[in-house]
Amino acid sequence: MKKAIVASIALFICISSWSQKLTKPDDFLTNDFHKERRELVRDKMPDNSVAVFFANPVRNRANDVNYVYHQDPNFYYLTGHREPHAVLLLFKDKQKANGSSFNELIFVRQHDALREMYDGARLGKEGAVKELDFKLAFEGPDFAEMNIDFSKFDKVLFYDFEDDVRNTSEEADLYDLIETFKEKVGYGKDAMAIETEPKSSNLDTETLDNIMRQLRGIKTADEIDLLKKAIDISTLGQKEVMKALEPGMSETEIQGLHEFIFKKYQAEYEGYPSIVGAGHNGCVLHYIDNYKPEIEDGELILMDLGAEYHGYTADVTRTIPVNGKFTKEQKLIYDLVYEAQEAGKEACKAGASFSSVYQATANVVNNGLVELGLYKSTSDKDMVNPETGRNRYYPHGCCHHIGLDVHDKGEYAALEENMVITIEPGIYIPAGSPCDEKWWDIPVRIEDDYLVTKEGCELLSDLAPRKSDEIEALMTEKSIFNDLDLPSLDEK
Ligand code: GLY
Ligand code: MN
Ligand code: MN
Repeated sequence: MKKAIVASIALFICISSWSQKLTKPDDFLTNDFHKERRELVRDKMPDNSVAVFFANPVRNRANDVNYVYHQDPNFYYLTGHREPHAVLLLFKDKQKANGSSFNELIFVRQHDALREMYDGARLGKEGAVKELDFKLAFEGPDFAEMNIDFSKFDKVLFYDFEDDVRNTSEEADLYDLIETFKEKVGYGKDAMAIETEPKSSNLDTETLDNIMRQLRGIKTADEIDLLKKAIDISTLGQKEVMKALEPGMSETEIQGLHEFIFKKYQAEYEGYPSIVGAGHNGCVLHYIDNYKPEIEDGELILMDLGAEYHGYTADVTRTIPVNGKFTKEQKLIYDLVYEAQEAGKEACKAGASFSSVYQATANVVNNGLVELGLYKSTSDKDMVNPETGRNRYYPHGCCHHIGLDVHDKGEYAALEENMVITIEPGIYIPAGSPCDEKWWDIPVRIEDDYLVTKEGCELLSDLAPRKSDEIEALMTEKSIFNDLDLPSLDEK
């Protein structure tokens, strides 16, 4: 018995010293960043309003295993909090209750020794004050207890619910917080109810997204630093794989080499599922199976991968010949996409429209494909695939914001200084396309990340070569992975 007590005391000391020794990187966004973002939201909120933000749900993978938790980007942007089951209230004006005055409240998960033994320490309300620098923080169950009169506000701003949150056994989990909120504000039984609410309803599910698009689309210096880091890591991965690639490797293995480099440089995750498609697979725009066991000599491989560093994700695509040398047809298509991307870059400057950047790339692609004989003319009859309604060989857009999301929130009218966007033209010619067979199964996308400036734009993903001859030259170099000599599973 005495032994058991000593052992459990020892274990307790051990657990507490673990939690004291927890170290985390010191280059996360600062509390001041998040605080300033909350102020900016408040500035843009309508008079006499409250904004309510919920954390992302935990997603179940299967049975006892959940997916790695990913915070809702708006919630992270405004709080720095990376745990689930939380809600943030921002008030336009100072509120007074029980002798204190405040303009924001956060409710976070309460402590739970058993769960923390499995999943790690929770911040708790004291941590939200100490670590996240909130003046007033409460635990989840307090949200139901607290008498917040939402009817006194002219507007209650929130994102409408997707009704895809599980009710777990945990007290005041996200499901309960949402149900409590719905009850407090008189939210109808389904989302349609908002539209049919009497005119006097103060519920507003539109305004908040407008505010968040305006804010998140323009990056601060700190955000640009994190994005640059994510982009450098991604391009170093592309570069190393260019050197390592040879016929016979598998798509999964190539994915693994990229992701090893991500982790080596402390990027926590991939910003989206990695796309590694050889030959025909590269023509599938969001191909994520990455199954092909042996990439064939003569194939192109399209690699669209982005490292996520402290929440911010890159989005970079390189397309390279697996044997190190483009064929004549591959090079013609590749160089055309490169020329299209350069035209897009030329058009990209503060004040220009997003659509003008797309148009600059599409003009080069469409005219170039006429010259190469893949289209008879640039009339819609030739260029539009009637089955998809899209341009046959360049069927997607060319630009999107990147940031906390790979397709980040932002405005899509005019380009503004300090937006960070992709320019990603592509040409995909799956076998069976109505053109000479010599073009079949050539997929090319070149995707780079750009910072919009007053005068133009700055290429951020310049560490990995983009020109066909520079790629071929790099592919002759030796890679750290060339000497990787692991035993075969058949030799056990
Ligand atoms: N990686 C997805 C995209 O390029 O939009
Ligand atoms: Mn993209
Ligand atoms: Mn991409």
